[in-house]
Amino acid sequence: MGFAQLVKKFPEEGNLSFSRPYFNHSVEFKKIFTPEERAEMLERVGLNVFFFPSEMITGCDLLSDSGTTTMTNEQWAYLHMGDEAYGSNRGYFLLMDQIREVFGEEFFNDPESNRPNAFIFHQGRPCEDALFTLMGKLGSGMIIPNNGHFDTTRANIEANGIRALNLFSSELKDPDSVSHFKGNMDLMKFKELLEKSRGKIPLAYLTITNNTGGGQPVSMENIREVSELAHKNGVPLFLDGCRFAENAWLIKKYEKGYANRKIKDIVKEMFSHADGFTISFKKDGLVNMGGDLFLKDNGLFVKKYPQMPDALTDYQIIKEGNPTYGGLSGRDIMTISVGLGTTIREEYLTHRINQVRDFGESMHRKGLPVMTPIGGHAVYLDVDRFFEGTKIRKEDFGGISLTAILLAAYGHRACELGCFAFGSYDRENGKETFPEINFVRFAVPRLRYEKQDLDSVIEAMKVLYENREQIPPVRVTYGKDLALRHFKARFEFK
Ligand SMILES: Cc1ncc(COP(=O)(O)O)c(C=O)c1O
Repeated sequence: MGFAQLVKKFPEEGNLSFSRPYFNHSVEFKKIFTPEERAEMLERVGLNVFFFPSEMITGCDLLSDSGTTTMTNEQWAYLHMGDEAYGSNRGYFLLMDQIREVFGEEFFNDPESNRPNAFIFHQGRPCEDALFTLMGKLGSGMIIPNNGHFDTTRANIEANGIRALNLFSSELKDPDSVSHFKGNMDLMKFKELLEKSRGKIPLAYLTITNNTGGGQPVSMENIREVSELAHKNGVPLFLDGCRFAENAWLIKKYEKGYANRKIKDIVKEMFSHADGFTISFKKDGLVNMGGDLFLKDNGLFVKKYPQMPDALTDYQIIKEGNPTYGGLSGRDIMTISVGLGTTIREEYLTHRINQVRDFGESMHRKGLPVMTPIGGHAVYLDVDRFFEGTKIRKEDFGGISLTAILLAAYGHRACELGCFAFGSYDRENGKETFPEINFVRFAVPRLRYEKQDLDSVIEAMKVLYENREQIPPVRVTYGKDLALRHFKARFEFK
């Protein structure tokens, strides 16, 4: 018997747990701080965890998955090969090849073509700023629907006099729903909007995965149907592609007909339905910094708004830099060209999404009210359900209290994305308006933490849940009437 046949006599490796598909190359030791020191610091920064010094975080920093705090050795090597030439640096051409390879030929035209359609910015939000500043000039009374606008997308749309409308799937808030695609756009609502607001919708947006909507994926069927409906009504479709690879993996895993397709092909199919997309490479680009706005060559957007490519180029030059580097240094562009290749590797995505899923499912098994099924990049705790039966009401901003106590007592940082972040205060009538959703988000940075780290967060959360009666409400001491108030406000315990 050959050795290969002998090996087959043992249980298949797929039945055992896998080790990570990468190993540590260098590590950084944390500094040690006590709960008292962290509590004192949190008081100094008005209980706003965004202002808490990251060096004092002794546990896991799950504030955001943005900025990919760990890069691969290949990326660090390419970073050293960065070319900082003012025009047409080395990385620009590598990026062009990689974008075509990953998203499709039609999203990055040759510079010689005189049809600019790839606009490099320093991160995701300046892409949104450029797009919506120019769209805002097209008229008044416009509406841009989305399956769930991210906060900066909403802010950039509204800053330009356009209404940002969320068309969440009705399954999103239903804890009994076992749908794997709770991130979908509600098609009926979209249809009604198209009929009611004919001529008022300059474009439609789909965010994949739906960060505001529990990090839930969007099915290929939904992308296709939204695209067809939009196109039938002369409306171009844009994707917010920050987590495109995770969305593709979840389609492969859960959508009928995709199990045997390659991630690469699923990604291409998703983007074939779009007329353009914005992307922050700080997520699935696996880099610290970078963003881009792409228009499909000959897509509905450029046909409908032929002035846009030149207007965007002018805007980019004025605000960021020469179109071949935009808002980025050459070395950052080099790391993106590598990161995009890594992010669509099956073994990377399988580990990444399973890690987040196991983290969330363990919390669920411990009775913590997290949104299920678990999405691609984060675990979302339902704050209303967490505080059910206690004195905490929506206007007490329990999510803020919870994140402050988790950080002070156990050294883990998470983020309130609910009544405070997405709510608003009306100065005229002194009333708060609350969003449909009320979450604390535990975003898992890519390639950074091990199971043991995340287990310690679960343990801490279980203890806090068992002692939730002890968690006091907060009062807003500064900034409740400000836009994007969660980044700026200060609080104290009542
Ligand atoms: C869905 C989504 N869109 C847009 C952005 C904005 O990207 P950036 O942080 O690079 O400005 C983010 C950032 O977290 C996001 O999650």
